[in-house]
Order: sequence, then C-alpha cells, then structure tokens
Amino acid sequence: MKKIFITHKIPSSGPRLLEAQGYKFLPGAKGADAVLCLLTDKIDGAFMDAAGKQLKIIASYNVGVDNIDLKAATDRKIVVTNTPGVLTEAVAEHAIALMLAVARRVVETDAFTRAGKFKGWEPDLLLGIELKNKTLGIVGLGRIGFRVAEIAVKGLGMKVVYNDVKPNADFEKAYDGQYVKKLDDLLKTSDVVSIHVPLLPSTKHLIDAKRLSLMKKTAILINTSRGPVVDEIALVAALRQKQIAGAGLDVYEFEPKFAPGLLKLPNAVLTPHTASATIETREAMSKLAAENIIAVLSGKPPLTPVKV
Ligand code: GLV
Repeated sequence: MKKIFITHKIPSSGPRLLEAQGYKFLPGAKGADAVLCLLTDKIDGAFMDAAGKQLKIIASYNVGVDNIDLKAATDRKIVVTNTPGVLTEAVAEHAIALMLAVARRVVETDAFTRAGKFKGWEPDLLLGIELKNKTLGIVGLGRIGFRVAEIAVKGLGMKVVYNDVKPNADFEKAYDGQYVKKLDDLLKTSDVVSIHVPLLPSTKHLIDAKRLSLMKKTAILINTSRGPVVDEIALVAALRQKQIAGAGLDVYEFEPKFAPGLLKLPNAVLTPHTASATIETREAMSKLAAENIIAVLSGKPPLTPVKV
C-alpha cells in the first residue's frame, strides 16, 4: 500500500482523490512514497533522506518551488511537481486588483471614509491616477505575466512593454507588446511595473535600491511573485521618500515578517500572500498535486514536473 504525507491541511479535492486510490496517510515524511508540501515547508536533502529511499515524488501545492532543493531531489531520483496553469487567472486578477487599488488609493480612501473624515465631495479629494494609455512593464512574461498583460491591454487600455530572457512573438502580435531587452530600460519608461519571475539566485533583489531609483516618481510597483525578488528595505525607503508613487505587494522578503516601516506606509497596499487564494484555484491546486502523485506512483509520467 502506497503511503502519503501531506504536510498541512489543504482543500479536499486532492486528498479525496488520494483516498480513493486506497493510499494510506502518514503523520510524517518517514516511510512516505509521496510528500505533498506547501511553499512554507523547507524541503532539503536532509528532509528527503529522513523520509527514506522509497520517496518517489514531492508534489508541491504551489507553482513557485524555491523552497525545494531541486538538485537534492534530482540526485535522489525524486520527481518534483508543481501546479502551473491552475493559478494563473487568480494571481493575474490579484495583480490587477493591486494595481487598481494603488492607483485609485482604494485602501487609503476606505480608511478615510470609515474614520468619519468624509465631509462631502471636493474637487481635489484623494486624487489617484488613471491607468488607460499608461505603460505597464511586465518583468517575466510567463503564464501569469502574459495574462496580466492581456487583462491590462484588453480591459484597461494600457500599453505593455516586457522584459524576459527572450522575446515572445505571439504576445507581440496579439497585444502589440514591446520587448525591452534591458530591465533598466523597462523601469525607466513604465508607469506600472509588475513582477512575475520565479525566485532564483539570479532574481534575488532583482529590484534593488539602484533599480528603484530608475523608476518614474509617479510609478507603481506590483509584486505577486516572491518577496526576495525585491529589496524590501530599499523599497520602504523609496516609498517613504516618494521616489516612486506606490506599491502593491502580496509577498514579502522576510515573510511573514515585514521590513521596518512598511506597514506604516499609506502608499502601499499589502495582502498576505493571497494572490492564488480563490476557492476555484485552491481546489484545482489540490487536485493537480494529487494527480501528479497518482501518476508517478502508478509508474506514469507526472503531469506537471518541475524542469531542472
Ligand atoms: C504561490 O505563491 C505559489 O507559488 O503557488
């Protein structure tokens, strides 16, 4: 009988599929044939060795797998899978929500209203900025970056420039998006910058103090990828000094902690790593993680392997 360790309680669609296979659920990794883990679990070689040689698959209930030592898994011939595709829409919609929330000061103005400060309509009360015809700079045109760009162009009438390791001809044709080879050039010209790269050694602090200083004073930074991609201490300084106009963040460098001063900034909208948190998506992530486990434990190829 195959044995599974699920590190935390997750929506039921996946566990139900695993149960239907007759798999046994273990209280820990030791002896498990499959581990279903979250991004908050640190999965390193020691974890894999403690689980034992029978461990065949680590199925992440997430798309970003920077918490898993992929080399250690490859060395041990353990398959690692993630959940791409099923959370694209939820995360893209959240990035757009943050964009609008910062541009139109939704959180700040809600607080203003609740505090009893609204004394009637005024011509210059809490002005925001409009997004139509503004330039959105997408950093990382993967699935999520692509979808954010699509909504921004089709829904909001924005123009899009993007930076990635290579250009995407289909995107350029469909959305008149312009490839910008140098990230610095994208930062200099964008009104909104939205980050959609994975966390890798090469993307840690991709947005640092120097790069923040290249951005327009009126620019908004959105991060729904991974916290450490942005130097959060430098970002707090940039927001405080009004070097950029605002930020919408769903992820944090020191998660679940925040850089000193971040929570006090009125020009930042902060959500608690909930970009993929829709009922539909969280069930789909659970199901896909379970389907990957079932495939691998039945000797079939995984549906969504992480390529190393
Ligand atoms: C969420 O952050 C994910 O990587 O799925």
